[in-house]
Formats: sequence, C-alpha cells, structure tokens
Amino acid sequence: MFKVKVVEMMVLALFVSVGCVLILYMFQGFLVQLGATGLFVFMLLFYVRRKWEEDDRLKMASIMKDAPIAIMIVKEHKIVNLNQKALNLLMGSKKRVIRGKDVTEFISFSNNQLTKVSGETVDVELQKASEGLQEKNHTFVLFIKDLQQDKEKEALIQHYEQLSVLGELAAGIAHEIRNPITSLKGFLQLIETDHSNSSSKSYTKIMLSEIERINLIVSELLVLGKPKELNKNKHHFFEIIQLVVTLTKTQAIIYNIEIKFNFDPSLKHVNIYCDDNKLKQVFINIIRNAIEAMKKEGTIVIDVTQVNDRLKVAFIDEGKGIPKEKMESIGKQFFTTKENGTGLGLMISNHIIKEHNGNMTMESEEGKGTKVFIELPINS
Ligand SMILES: Nc1ncnc2c1ncn2[C@@H]1O[C@H](COP(=O)(O)OP(=O)(O)OP(=O)(O)O)[C@@H](O)[C@H]1O
Ligand SMILES: [Mg+2]
Repeated sequence: MFKVKVVEMMVLALFVSVGCVLILYMFQGFLVQLGATGLFVFMLLFYVRRKWEEDDRLKMASIMKDAPIAIMIVKEHKIVNLNQKALNLLMGSKKRVIRGKDVTEFISFSNNQLTKVSGETVDVELQKASEGLQEKNHTFVLFIKDLQQDKEKEALIQHYEQLSVLGELAAGIAHEIRNPITSLKGFLQLIETDHSNSSSKSYTKIMLSEIERINLIVSELLVLGKPKELNKNKHHFFEIIQLVVTLTKTQAIIYNIEIKFNFDPSLKHVNIYCDDNKLKQVFINIIRNAIEAMKKEGTIVIDVTQVNDRLKVAFIDEGKGIPKEKMESIGKQFFTTKENGTGLGLMISNHIIKEHNGNMTMESEEGKGTKVFIELPINS
C-alpha cells in the first residue's frame, strides 16, 4: 500500500513538475513574445517619430533655403540656426561661427538695425514669429528684410529713369540741331564747287569734315533715347586714336597745349573689335576734359602699351587735378565743376568702355594733374 502510494506520489510529482515546467515554458514563451512584440512596437514608433522629425527638419531647411528673406531661429536669445541670406547679410564666413551667439550681438530690436560681422550697421525691417513654437523657451523665428538693398534698388531705378528722360531730351535737341546743320552743309558744298574762290577751298574742306563730325555726334544723341546695338567691327586702334588727336588738336592749340603720342611702332597694326565712333567719343571726352583742366601751356601725353592680350591707354595731363573729396563724385551723372558742363562725359565714357569689355580708372593729384587709364581687349 505504502509502495503504491509512493509510486502514485512519484507519478503525481512527475506530472506536477512536468506540468509546472510546461506551464513555465508556455508562460516564458508568452513573456518572450510579449517582450519581442513590445520591443518591435517600440522600435516602430521610434522610427516613425524619427522619420517625422527628419521630414520636418528637411522641410524647415528647404523653407529656410528658398525663402526670399533672411531668417534666423532664436532660442533663449541664442541664434540656433540661420539661412544663407542671413549669413550674407551679416557678411559672416561660416554658419557655425554665428550659431550659438547672442542674437542681440547682431540685432538691435529697439533701433531696427543689424550689425554686420565687420561692425557696419544697416537699417532692417524685423518680424518675429513664435506661434506654434515653444514660447516658454523663448523660441522664435526672426525674418530680416534688408532696407539698404531696397534703397539701392530705388536709386538704381531713379538713375535709369533720369537717363531715359535725358535720352529723350537729347534726342529732341539733336533733332533741332540737325536742320540748321543740313542747310550749313549745303551752302558750304556750294562754296566748295565755286572755282573762282580757290583760297577758301581748304577752309571749306575742314568745315565740311567738322560738320560731318557734328552730324555724327547728333546722330548719336538721336539714338540715345532708344537703346542701340553697338556697331562693332575690327579696327586699327592706331587710326582711331590718331584721328581723335587730329580733331582735338584744334582746341589744344588755342591754349598752347601739345598733345604727345607715345606709341610703340609694333602696336601700329593692333586691332580692336569695337564700335569706332563710340571709342572716338570716349577719347574726345577725355582729351577735352584734360584741355579744360589745363587751359594753359603744357603737355597731354597719350601713352599706349600692350599688356598680355589687352591694350592700356593712359591720358596724362598737367591740369589742376581733382581734390580728394571730389574724387568719389567724378563720373556720377550730372556731376560737373564746369559752368557749361553737363557732367555726363565720364559717365557715358565709362559705360561705352564697359560695353567693350574694357575698364576705365582715374588717378589725380590736386595741382599736379590727372591720369585716365583705359584698358581694352585686343582682337588678334
Ligand atoms: N582731366 C581732368 N582734370 C581735372 N578734373 C577733371 C578731369 N576730367 C574730369 N574732371 C572733373 O570731372 C567732372 C566731370 O567730368 P565729365 O566729363 O563727366 O563732365 P564735364 O566735363 O563736367 O561736362 P561735359 O563732359 O558734359 O562737358 C568735371 O566737371 C571735372 O571737375
Ligand atoms: Mg567732360
């Protein structure tokens, strides 16, 4: 009996322990499954959240990049991000140099001013947006509009408007001049064919060629109102400058001014791809300025050299020179120190030289003289 009970007990114990092991095993599997599922769900949520954050970050970056305005993101008074336009406005070299800095280092909210990295201040329009951001962290987006740029654009528009008005005016005047010139030319041609008066023939020839030049300038003025394509061709630079010297000599002689020409003979055949009449207009302007600055005996030197594939022309006069404080205004439209000057000569000259892919600069010393340098590409 006892033996049977022991066996029964042992079988029961075996059953219980197998059952326990089985239950534990089943229970463990469930835990493992639960854990694995939990881990999976957790990782999925983590991934989705990261993806959302990443998308938001990319959207934000692209909005900031494409925005037509300078943007800064400020958190607790520190600049945490800024776009390229803001960086350009600050003239800062790297974003990471600006990030983390106190916003008030660059922005004055009371004066609506921005201080560039160089220390220069400019007027700006500021707009703060903090809606939807963590207000308690003092986070806001700052939109900065450069008012300086607006002012420059406005000035440029005004400049072009003035030019177009001037063009119309010039065209009107040119039209009026053309009629008497035509009749003058007709009578001169009549005198020229009159063989009984041979002594005046040489004069009429000069007068006719001068009238031709006036006609040419008048035609230029007539088209000033409308923008005109340049009439560029290959020309010998030497011939252009020589003609200009011949024409301006008549005015120089009045003041006993000599126009000296330094020209390396090897440059005699150098070609320039240009509108020759426009270049003549430039050189006449410069030599006339030199004569008007001298108005007494002296020399104007025209020095021509070649540097690589460019011609360098220097017009050196011994005139009164330009005071330092006036130097900045020279070449701006309507700036003149002459009673009858228009203050357009240098501005138009500079424009023409630029149209020829050249460069024009000036140096001057008050009481000593002025040098005008012109650089033009050679057409070999
Ligand atoms: N060689 C020079 N020496 C001294 N001052 C000069 C010289 N060239 C130009 N300037 C100064 O620059 C100003 C502007 O010259 P610009 O040729 O543009 O106009 P302008 O000579 O005054 O008038 P316009 O050319 O219509 O007769 C002149 O009034 C003069 O003060
Ligand atoms: Mg002039």
